[in-house]
Amino acid sequence: MIIGNHIKRETRQLADKTFPLGRLIYFVTNNVHKFNEARLVLAKYNIAVAMLRAKMPEIQDDNIENIAKIGAIEASRKTHLPVIVEDAGLFIDALNGFPGPYSSYVYRTLGKEGILRLLEGYENRRARFKSAVAFHGPGMETKCFLGVVKGKISKTIRGESGFGFDPIFEPDEFPGRTFGELSVEEKNRVSHRSRALRSFAEWYLKMKN
Ligand code: IMP
Repeated sequence: MIIGNHIKRETRQLADKTFPLGRLIYFVTNNVHKFNEARLVLAKYNIAVAMLRAKMPEIQDDNIENIAKIGAIEASRKTHLPVIVEDAGLFIDALNGFPGPYSSYVYRTLGKEGILRLLEGYENRRARFKSAVAFHGPGMETKCFLGVVKGKISKTIRGESGFGFDPIFEPDEFPGRTFGELSVEEKNRVSHRSRALRSFAEWYLKMKN
């Protein structure tokens, strides 16, 4: 992971092996949409979160939980800060869970159109998003929280909101609408990421008190 110079400076100032819980948490991501979703969920618990941009190594593992945990340990060790790393994936039933942990690569190579093409001729369009939120702070054990949202892959690309596969995923709770057609607040009511983050927030508040 490559942390920018400004982060290194900040890190030196903040470095403290006994970082008390309750201060700012750092969400390590380059994805501003993810950060925005997380900020809004955690604000409901009065947990302040800052975005920490970092170049993550491409960890290859067929388990999103391991990817998130390894990322959080790496990031926290390098920065001496309490960090969250999230890893997510789209798991399609008819494709035996593909692309799953390889969602980022598949998004870059095949894209949304490629997924629609792969599903041509399939009756079964069931799918789920899974999110793993890993937290690691100096001197602490790594904790990981999971969230899932079930739904189906739409027949067409619809909606401008969000990112990634949002315009082709219809969550069961909003029939006929893709994540791309929902506001961030609506997506946060049901999304994999918000569910994992809420579990994290409940644990974190208990730890802090
Ligand atoms: P990441 O490795 O956690 O960034 O997620 C892998 C890929 O899954 C991303 O590049 C997105 O294409 C997709 N993805 C993850 N979460 C979401 C989401 O909430 N909406 C849409 N696509 C997502």
